[in-house]
Amino acid sequence: QKVALAFSGGLDTTVCVPLLKEEYGYDEVIGVTVDVGQPEPEFAEAEETAEALGLDIHVVDAKEEFAALCFDGVRANATYQGYPLGTAMARPVIASAILEVAEEEGCTGIAHGCTGKGNDQLRFEAVWRDSDLEVIAPIRELGLTRAWEKEYAAERDLPVEGGNEGDWSIDTNLWSRSVEGKELEEPSYVPGEEIYAWTSAPGSETLELEIGFEDGYAVSLDGEAMDPVEMTETLNETAGAYGVGRTDVMEDRMLGLKVRENYEHPAATVLLSAHEGLESLVLTKEERMFKNYVDQEWAEKAYEGLVNAPLVRALEGFIDETQTKVTGTVTIRLEGGQARVVGRESPYAVYSAEAASFNTEDVMGGIEQNDATGVAKYHGFQERLANKVAAAAQAK
Ligand code: ARG
Ligand code: SIN
Repeated sequence: QKVALAFSGGLDTTVCVPLLKEEYGYDEVIGVTVDVGQPEPEFAEAEETAEALGLDIHVVDAKEEFAALCFDGVRANATYQGYPLGTAMARPVIASAILEVAEEEGCTGIAHGCTGKGNDQLRFEAVWRDSDLEVIAPIRELGLTRAWEKEYAAERDLPVEGGNEGDWSIDTNLWSRSVEGKELEEPSYVPGEEIYAWTSAPGSETLELEIGFEDGYAVSLDGEAMDPVEMTETLNETAGAYGVGRTDVMEDRMLGLKVRENYEHPAATVLLSAHEGLESLVLTKEERMFKNYVDQEWAEKAYEGLVNAPLVRALEGFIDETQTKVTGTVTIRLEGGQARVVGRESPYAVYSAEAASFNTEDVMGGIEQNDATGVAKYHGFQERLANKVAAAAQAK
C-alpha cells in the first residue's frame, strides 16, 4: 500500500511521513513537491529533508500552468480582501499535479499536511475527492499541534531544523509570499522588517515601468516581450526593491475564522494596477461597474480553490468579451511603496480629448455645450419632488 504526500519539507509534512506508516498502515510513502515558483532554497530544503527521511520524492514543474492561471486572475482584477490570491490559486494546480503522480505510481492514498483550521485542506480535497484514492489529513485527523509535532520530531530525530524561518508559517510561490503565525497571530502586533523577504522598506527613489497588454494579458515589459513566468519573476524583483506589494490583512477564512495574514506580492500589485488602469480607459462605465461584480465572483471562487467551477467558465465568457479591448500600454510609477498608474494608451480608448476639452467647440457631432441645459433642469427632479412631498406629509 502506497500513499502520495504533498511534501514541502516543513514541519507539518515532515511529521506526516512516519505517521502515514505508523498510524495509517501504509508501507510506502512518496513525497511530491510541485514547483509553482517557490525560491530555489525551498527545493533544496525539501530534497535534503526527503533524503534524511529516506523519502522518495517527485518534483513536478507546474510553473507555467500556475503563471497562466495568475494571468487569468489579472484579467479578473482578482484579489480577496486585498490579497492577490497567490496561495489560493496555487492549490488546485498543486493538487492536480500530485494526484497525477499518485495515480501513475499506483498509490491508493493521497495525503496533505494542512491543519483543520485553514483553507488549504478544502482546496486540496476539492480536487482529490474527485478520485478513488483514500484522502488523508494526518494533522487534522490526529488533532496535532505544532508543539506536539516539534516534540515528536525531536524524539524521532526528524530533520526539521532546516529553513523553518523562525517558526513562522510561510507559503511562497511565483505570485505571493505569505507569512503567518507566532507573534503575528496577535492582530495588534506590529511586525518589523524581518518578516519580509521579497520587499525592501520603501525608500525615496522612484522608477517608471511600461507594461504592454494584449487582450487583457500582460505581454511586455519596457517594450520587451516576456512570458508570464519571466514577467512575474522580473517584476517581483524590480518592484520588490521599491517596497511595492505589502499587505497586512485580517482575512476571513472559509470556515469563518478571522486570521491575521501578511503578504508580499510586488509583481501582482504592479500587474493588477496596470490592468485596471487600462480597463478604465477602454471599458464603458457600465461595463466597468458590471465587471466589478463578475470579478468579485471570480476571486471568491479562486479563494475557495474552485477555479474549475461552471460559474467560473461562465464568468470568463463575460471577461473574455471585455478583454478583447484591453490592449495597449500602461506606465506605472513605483514610488513610496506604491505602484501608481501615471499613463495609459490604447487603440480602444473610449476617450476623445477634443470632446472632453473645455477649449473646443462642436466636436460631438452637432452637440453643443448649451444642449446640457435641458439635462441640468431635469437632473435631480425626482429627488427634489420626493423631499418636498415628504416634508409636506410630515408637516400635517
Ligand atoms: N490565508 C491564505 C489563504 O488561504 C494564505 C495561507 C498561506 N499559508 C501559510 N501557511 N502561510 O490563501
Ligand atoms: C493550514 O492551516 O494548513 C495553512 C493555512 C490555510 O490553509 O489557510
